Amino acid sequence: MPLSTKRVFFSSYVFDIWPSVYEPAEDSFLFAENLTVREGEKVLDVGTGCGILGIIAAKTASMVVATDINPEAVRCAKENAKLNGVADKMFFVQGDLFTPLKTGEKFDLILFNAPYLPTESFEGETFIEYAWVGGRSGRAVIDRFLKGAREHTKVGGRVLLLQSTLADVNRTLRILEDKGFNAEIVASLNLPFFETIVLVEAKARPL
Ligand SMILES: C[S@@+](CC[C@H](N)C(=O)[O-])C[C@H]1O[C@@H](n2cnc3c(N)ncnc32)[C@H](O)[C@@H]1O
Repeated sequence: MPLSTKRVFFSSYVFDIWPSVYEPAEDSFLFAENLTVREGEKVLDVGTGCGILGIIAAKTASMVVATDINPEAVRCAKENAKLNGVADKMFFVQGDLFTPLKTGEKFDLILFNAPYLPTESFEGETFIEYAWVGGRSGRAVIDRFLKGAREHTKVGGRVLLLQSTLADVNRTLRILEDKGFNAEIVASLNLPFFETIVLVEAKARPL
């Protein structure tokens, strides 16, 4: 564990946050408070960060695959899974969005607290920047996620995606409908400076 690690508590869970890993904030907590996982579900946690969402899901799920483009996040989340007693149900892989998965591998539930900040750059220059860099529209990662999500969701399965009104929530809802989901906003939180973060839930229809 790196020397400057911070400790964050949520409900009965504890997370060590390594220096180059996203520290859970309002977005993570809004997601965690509204995270519904059914007994036995197979869950994918994309962009796991310190592991907060995947680890909470693992208490109820049969198994959780947690991925992140940031290799430090993957290592940190793995340690946090041990700390919270769910390591036996979790698998960790580093990589971009769905690329670490087998073609067509399907889940009951996919979670993504996405980077959504409008930025000049399209990619993080450091590992931690991947947590917020969203390209000019804020949608660079969100749009690529939405493109691949249906292929990895079982019929009747769900996607939970958190983003901000800074990155056109209506476009997300439209794309999800076009890709074969019924989508709605299930939770939201107003932040300063006219920004609202929203949690979108999308249920996969038969194709
Ligand atoms: C806002 S943070 C959320 C972290 C954690 N899930 C939470 O709720 O606190 C976004 C995470 O997505 C990861 N990420 C960004 N782009 C990604 C990509 N293309 N593929 C996989 N992970 C990505 C970042 O490294 C970061 O850990």
